[in-house]
Amino acid sequence: MTAPAAAWPATRLARALGIALPILQAPMAMAATPALAAAVSNAGALGALGSAMLPLPALAAEVAAVRAATSGGINLNFFCHPAPVAGAAAEAAAAAALAPHHVALGLPPPAPVLAPPVPGFDAGRLDWLLAHPPRVVSFHFGLPPGDAVARLKAAGSAVIATATTVAEARAVEAAGCDAVIAQGWEAGGHRGAFRLEPADRGVGLLALVPQVVDAVAIPVIAAGGIGDGRGIAAALMLGAEGVQLGTAFLSCPEAATAPAHRAVLAAATDCDTHLTAAYSGRPARARITAFGSAFQSAPVAGYPLPRELTRPLVAAAAARGIDDYAFHLYGQAAPLCRPLPAAALVARLAAETAAALSRS
Ligand SMILES: Cc1cc2nc3c(=O)[nH]c(=O)nc-3n(C[C@H](O)[C@H](O)[C@H](O)COP(=O)(O)O)c2cc1C
Repeated sequence: MTAPAAAWPATRLARALGIALPILQAPMAMAATPALAAAVSNAGALGALGSAMLPLPALAAEVAAVRAATSGGINLNFFCHPAPVAGAAAEAAAAAALAPHHVALGLPPPAPVLAPPVPGFDAGRLDWLLAHPPRVVSFHFGLPPGDAVARLKAAGSAVIATATTVAEARAVEAAGCDAVIAQGWEAGGHRGAFRLEPADRGVGLLALVPQVVDAVAIPVIAAGGIGDGRGIAAALMLGAEGVQLGTAFLSCPEAATAPAHRAVLAAATDCDTHLTAAYSGRPARARITAFGSAFQSAPVAGYPLPRELTRPLVAAAAARGIDDYAFHLYGQAAPLCRPLPAAALVARLAAETAAALSRS
């Protein structure tokens, strides 16, 4: 296990989460694997599974794989969101919106999707976690109902959740969470916003972190656009006690990043992403595509039904090498990605941070 470099401040967060380095690998659904999580935790940071969309048996198998590979901690992540309102009229409208795209790709008309394949955070997942408490449980898109946070903490897990505004951070603290992830506008993947205003105004990380630090007493984890040790040091200077990096880990060989996604990351620029709700029904930062632009703020159905609705389009286009429908999630700091094994990346981040802090 890597020892924290001397220049790193000892943070409350590192103590609370039991980690040497206050660096969290983001729990990335479809991209974070047991091998990635274990390598990160073995390197002294905190590994996470992209567990939110896994059925329980698959979740249990992935957790067992991590536990076989590390005695370090693991962060399991879940989505808290309202169930989508699906019905015949909504289905017909969603299908009509997608129909021209199916015609363009020579596909049969879109098939109706009335229920998500995997529910959000539910009683079954809570019971499983209480029986097998991980070091950390994290929530995205909101907070669990009732006394779930208190019960998870009583079972021995630290609980953290994403906020994109000061008001959301206050709600995370009021729910009893141990720390809040302040996710900036730059972040790759889905916005964790849960108090969606008609127009999500999008606060950048440099503005968001110090305001959240001033607003809450719990430790703050900065996320979004951090690609190397300079970014980590800057976040610590702003008052964050730790950082969460997603995009930076997508290029690690242990991540389940598809070859086409890796190629896009290798050629990424600072301004080739946008936020679009087209693919899932919630705003997510992904590479700009014609399809993502067409439904950027007017999703074809409520989250997460579009994921199923658009899957045939995405798959057919990928098979034909057509880029216009690809859903490549990554953030604005993607050009800083380094295709290093996860342990080497964590060590590099730690050394860069220490160097940046010692210059300050
Ligand atoms: C491919 C990808 C998938 C993501 N999936 C999740 C997820 O399942 N749960 C979650 O809490 N955050 C998810 N995120 C968001 C991260 O937690 C984090 O906020 C973000 O990666 C930080 O910005 P960065 O990508 O610039 O480092 C995802 C991010 C990416 C890039």
